[in-house]
Parts: sequence; structure tokens; C-alpha cells
Amino acid sequence: MLTRRSLVQAGLAGLVVAPTVHRGTVVADAAEAPAAGRPLRIAHLTDIHVQPELESAKGLDSCFAHVQSLAERGEAAVDLIVTGGDTVMDCMEADRARTQTQWDLWKKVKADACSLEVRSVVGNHDVWGWTKSKAKTAGTEPLYGKQWACEQFGRAVPYESFDRGGWHVVLLDSVFPHEDGYIGKIDDAQWDWLERDLAAVPVATPVAIVSHIPILSVSPLSVAKPDGAGTDGKPAFSVSGGLVHVDHAKFQGLFAKHPNVKACLSGHLHIVERIEFGGMSYLCNGAVSASWWKGKHRGTDFGYAVVDLHGDGTVESRYVPYGWTAKA
Ligand SMILES: [Fe+2]
Repeated sequence: MLTRRSLVQAGLAGLVVAPTVHRGTVVADAAEAPAAGRPLRIAHLTDIHVQPELESAKGLDSCFAHVQSLAERGEAAVDLIVTGGDTVMDCMEADRARTQTQWDLWKKVKADACSLEVRSVVGNHDVWGWTKSKAKTAGTEPLYGKQWACEQFGRAVPYESFDRGGWHVVLLDSVFPHEDGYIGKIDDAQWDWLERDLAAVPVATPVAIVSHIPILSVSPLSVAKPDGAGTDGKPAFSVSGGLVHVDHAKFQGLFAKHPNVKACLSGHLHIVERIEFGGMSYLCNGAVSASWWKGKHRGTDFGYAVVDLHGDGTVESRYVPYGWTAKA
């Protein structure tokens, strides 16, 4: 019997149509659009953190199998997988050999177990060598920083956009260095690109944005400690700019100009959250690795989100545990 896996092994995964790229924007063939009236169905697999330990490769394999078995379970099939960043583990401080091992693992599991098209966002764990003392990097290596992830994802820059199923989908690079770590934002070059990209989208076309770090989230408030007196003398929360985009207000201004932006999908926090704010849905979609393959994270199971993007701009999302449990 021909299964998706056997198609992959037989080298027929190329049946998936390769999109055409125009100056960083990918334009899908019309044939890739879902049938009229059917939503574009995306499987959002974020925070995979594949690594040699904890049988994570088997876990990812079973996740891919689960995504591709939806049709056999009587559901609509997934049109596209979007990975939401943190594909690998701790590469900011991993040396070249360990980084290579993890990307090789990702590539092999994807090739062996996934016949769907995959498009990927860069996460902080996918950045190589910013912690130079631990990673033993000089900063001049061709694959330094985000270039290794870009090479793995098959593009020159860590952000892109494409049209699919009546939607315009934007994948952002939201990880930028700050002191010894990073913060969530996009830089000036990406702002310039994003403003031009959205301006070119017809107003009747709904837009979904996918970033690794959430553009907006309330969940950091549930763990942040009061930070003493705020400017008005009242106790205040302090939320790390490493958890949520620090440029959220600027995004609000941009979205006000483009009311066809309907959804912002993210990962990073390994929790499931949906916020309706300003006419938009902000969806943080858990983690394939849950608590970095060690168990549930704050009650969030090993899972992925099935996101249905409807032609009228509405968004349905459902978090799907794929049955994995932590291995010793
Ligand atoms: Fe993560």
C-alpha cells in the first residue's frame, strides 16, 4: 500500500509543487490553492528542539506521522507545514560539531518522515554561535548566526512571504542580539521590507504573520514578578523583551494601516494561548517538544496546532497532542 512515508522513500515527495520565488516573496501556483470554500489548513509545528538526546528524533517522526494521518482520521488534510522556530537545541552556544549533528538530524527526519511542503521560521535556538566563548566561534564563519538556519531552510535571508490558498503568509525573523542574549523585534531592514510587502497585498487578501517570539502575549505576566514601583508609584510588572516583541506598539501602527492582517502565530513560550485584540488573533501554539522533551510544560502537552485560515479572514486553531510522552 502506498503510504506518505513510502512515497517519500520512493523519492516521490517531489510531487509537492515547488513555489516560485520573486525577490524574497514566494508566489504559489494557483493549483496549490485549496478548493473553493475550503480553508487553507496549516499545521504549525513550533519549538521542535530536535537533539540527539531524549529520543527527540523519534518524537518528531511520530509528530510528522500524526500530521499526515489527519486525512485517514476523517479530517481535512494539511496543505502546508510551518515550523515556528527552535528547530534545533541551544545552537547559540553549541560548537560546530554539535550544531551540525542537530541540523543533520532535522534534515534526516524531515526527509524520511514528511511528504508535505515545509516552510520554516528561525528561532533563537537556531542561531549559531552568538555565545562565542561556548560555541568557539569567531563571528566570521560563513554559517555564523542565522546563516546556518537559512541554508537549512533554503533561502538567503531569515524572513520571507508567500501566497497560498487565498492568503498571504509572512514569516518573520524576530530574534536579535541584545547584551549577552537576544530580544524579540524586527530590525530596520525587515521593517522596510515588511511595509513594502504588506503594501503590495490586495486589501481583500487576508494576511497571517508567523514569528518565533510572540508579537503579543499575556502569558509572561503569569510568571513575572512585581518590579517595585512603576513610574506612577504603583507596583508594576516587568516582562522580559526576550519573551515578547518589544516593538509591539509599532506593529499596532502597521496593522492599523492593513486591517487585512488577521492573525499572528508564534511559539517560543511553549504554551497555548489565543488573544483577540484589535481585530486580530494572536496564537501562541505550544511546542512539539513540550518541556524540551522532558515532559509537559506548564500543562502544555507535546503537540502542534491545526490552523484553518478561512477565505473570509477568520481563523480556527486547535492544539493537537500527538501522543508522545517523555523518555528517560
Ligand atoms: Fe523553544
